[in-house]
Amino acid sequence: MMTNKSIKNICCIGAGYVGGPTMAVFADKCPDMNITVVDKDKERIKKWNDQDTGNLPVFEPGLEEIIKKVRDKNLHFSNEIEKTIENSDIIFLCVNTPVKDKGFGAGQASDLKFIESCARQVAKHSKNHTIVIEKSTLPVRTAATIRTILNSSQGDNISDSKTFSVLSNPEFLAEGTAINDLKNPDRVLIGGEDQESIEALAKIYQNWVPEEKIIRTNLWSSELSKLTANAFLAQRITSINSIAAFCENSGGDIEEVANAIGSDKRIGSKFLNAGPGFGGSCFKKDISNLVYLSEYFGLPEVAEYWNSIIKLNNWQKLRISKLIVQKLFGTLRGKSIAILGFAFKANTNDTRESPAIDICKNLLVEGANLIIHDPKVSEEQMTKNLGMKANYICNNQDSNDYESTWSKNENIYSSLSGVDAVVILTEWDIYKNLDWKKISKLMRKPAWIFDTRGLLDITKLNNTDLNFWKIGDGLEK
Ligand code: NAD
Ligand code: UGA
Repeated sequence: MMTNKSIKNICCIGAGYVGGPTMAVFADKCPDMNITVVDKDKERIKKWNDQDTGNLPVFEPGLEEIIKKVRDKNLHFSNEIEKTIENSDIIFLCVNTPVKDKGFGAGQASDLKFIESCARQVAKHSKNHTIVIEKSTLPVRTAATIRTILNSSQGDNISDSKTFSVLSNPEFLAEGTAINDLKNPDRVLIGGEDQESIEALAKIYQNWVPEEKIIRTNLWSSELSKLTANAFLAQRITSINSIAAFCENSGGDIEEVANAIGSDKRIGSKFLNAGPGFGGSCFKKDISNLVYLSEYFGLPEVAEYWNSIIKLNNWQKLRISKLIVQKLFGTLRGKSIAILGFAFKANTNDTRESPAIDICKNLLVEGANLIIHDPKVSEEQMTKNLGMKANYICNNQDSNDYESTWSKNENIYSSLSGVDAVVILTEWDIYKNLDWKKISKLMRKPAWIFDTRGLLDITKLNNTDLNFWKIGDGLEK
């Protein structure tokens, strides 16, 4: 068995939104460790190694500065997966764990093909004792599968002294605040059975995380805690969104309600911002996985409870789309709409499960011409998400007045020229203080502003002839 002192070389498989930033912070906080992040995606690794750090594949505030400091010193990005595994004492599995798209459990169960292939590679190429760490979010009991693969794959070219410990060390960072979350985590969770390996990992974190924030549990509690944390966070957003709809119909104001309930320490004030529905790569997939596991363990009522969160989140996107169409006299034919924000939240270039995708698609089906602005999302990414090239005219029903199209515009004010409505879908700071008097002159009348994030200060729109709808605001304007 290895001693804590012998840990020098770390490998992270998966150079994505989690692997890249996490290992950058590890490298910064542990200058004596040599860390290599590997990925099978050559293009991604090339971007991580780009001398122009503005081209990194992930945008996170503070990331560029750390990369400049540690890259090619004790942090490396490489496609040499086998060699890196061979030379490492600890291997973090940080690959994507999407929902299965085919077969049993399609749409709900986790697709573990990437984790399995990593485990096989580790089994084949590692040497001596290796600590294998689940960093990806995984279904409960995946550690048992990984352990079985690691142990049974021993044989080809492998010396008898080869041993493994499997730990669960889920990541709780949120995109947009990843660097701060990694530097100052609320807690670090380590689940495992082998005390020596648990302490070896804890020792790495102790370089910057206070001991009282390092929680040690058994493997299954750790795996389940990650799914549960995401399920609780998503549930909280859905709860406040459901009350926002209630406010709109009853005369309440969701900001006042959130403030009033959030002052109760037992409820707390965070994560109570009503919006167009939660997006991001994980909430939906992790709840779907929880639903699948609940069914698997014979708990259909529990499955139904969590599934209702996903249903209500879909309804939120649909109700906002319908509301926009309804306010614009029931049709979007021949109308232009400016979309402000396409990322699933501010301060990220990530669009995975962004509510903007569904809402834009709904508006396009109604015949709209969308002009989309986002400070970080590329046109290429929007094209992938919308399934249609920019400026392509989609003739929905063989009728000339039923054409829809979209384009990206880099300049906010020019994207608003002549539009019938503005829809704010991401809470980027730059949208907070726009000159609404100027915008009012640019738009076609009657003009509507739809603020799905509760971002705008209504007083700034006073003295304009703009109609205004804000999420969770029940007062007629
Ligand atoms: P990602 O898709 O951004 O990155 C995953 C990377 O793994 C990809 O670059 C892919 O090419 C690579 N990969 C897959 N299989 C591989 C293999 N066999 N060998 C080498 N490389 C391989 O994913 P992500 O957002 O970083 O998420 C990773 C995991 O972390 C997921 O389980 C996710 O649920 C979890 N997580 C994500 C976040 C987040 O904010 N994105 C936060 C916490 C936890
Ligand atoms: C979320 C969790 O917050 C992280 O702890 C977790 O590690 C991560 O998922 C993961 O496992 O992937 P993330 O999806 O990056 O992080 O971002 P969040 O800040 O949680 O936002 C998720 C979605 O909820 C966004 O669409 C956001 O706009 C929305 N949201 C968030 C609201 O609508 N209201 C809020 O009050 C907060």
